[in-house]
Amino acid sequence: MTETRETTNAAFTPRVFSGIQPSGDLHLGNYLGALKRFADAQNRGIQSIYCMVDLHAITVWQDPADLKRSTRELCAGFIASGIDPEKSILINQSQVPEHAQLAWIFNCVARMGWMGRMTQWKDKAGKNAENASLGLFAYPALMAADILVYHATHVPVGEDQKQHLELTRDIAAKFNHDYGVEFFPITEPVIEGAATRVMSLRDGSKKMSKSDASDASRINMTDDADAIARKIRKAKTDPEGLPSEVKGLEDRPEARNLVNIYAALDDRSVEAVLAEYGGQPFSVFKPALADLAVARLAPISAEMARLMADPAQIDRILTEGAARAREITAPILRQTYDIVGMVAPA
Ligand code: TYM
Repeated sequence: MTETRETTNAAFTPRVFSGIQPSGDLHLGNYLGALKRFADAQNRGIQSIYCMVDLHAITVWQDPADLKRSTRELCAGFIASGIDPEKSILINQSQVPEHAQLAWIFNCVARMGWMGRMTQWKDKAGKNAENASLGLFAYPALMAADILVYHATHVPVGEDQKQHLELTRDIAAKFNHDYGVEFFPITEPVIEGAATRVMSLRDGSKKMSKSDASDASRINMTDDADAIARKIRKAKTDPEGLPSEVKGLEDRPEARNLVNIYAALDDRSVEAVLAEYGGQPFSVFKPALADLAVARLAPISAEMARLMADPAQIDRILTEGAARAREITAPILRQTYDIVGMVAPA
């Protein structure tokens, strides 16, 4: 199986795809787990496509005016974090119809049982699955289509998306097997660095998330310096100071989280951070972390605000991105339809 997968991928040019939902504010988890790393891929010269996944966002209710604002703000967030719309392709998912078209094919490839096992589905639908949207259940098939409609080979994401990416591989493998082709690549998840799972500042056992009711649990990309410093000062910790070695962070999820955040913000290893701060109390470490977070995030939020002052320019960037994207997606969708046996227009 592994061998087949490797053979399949060797035929594809490296291409990166990733997406973020435009639902609510961007937070530090999105930045460290995803956005910051997107710029790295782009700067290594790999063709990269980054997507505001508005079709995914509406799998739960979104106020229409808020969705438009969040989509533009997310686009501003991508650019402010270093994505160059000339080097990479920046798109809004609904403007590239091939995503939804391929998703339908994948709805017919994926099995109900696979979807039912997704932990994100179980968490989001909870006990009220009867009332969840059909779109929420099918969500991972659309995600597979986002990636595979570009024949993307690498997908940088945070840890929480790992299961969805395994499903993407399963869908590609089943499509290839059922139709006897080697058409879709078996995509590699790229989950790397110190901050693949940034945790809540209030509870080290929960991930930082936009859906947490407590605003104090997360740092939003639009928070000002005072809010960032206050949230870090109040972040839950334990009474001990910082250890000098990584093993001293075992069973200390809140301390581990703050050290991980420091390391990721400063592009350093956890070991290097502990070499500097080991033995120090949180009364020393927290202000240092707050200063670092403000230094890194303030220029991004200022740039986001500047870009948001000209929404027409953001809309132009997305329109151009969609046109460039469709040069890739339209032929891949055409070939998919042909493989499946659909009669092409004369
Ligand atoms: P979304 O919008 O929930 O999150 C966007 C990205 O941020 C990462 N992330 C985190 N990383 C570290 N710590 C955290 N606390 C944290 N919270 C979020 C996520 O892992 C993700 O990389 N289904 C996706 C969007 C999507 C997608 C795709 C991603 C749609 N199609 C195709 C990749 C490829 C989602 O809801 O991400």
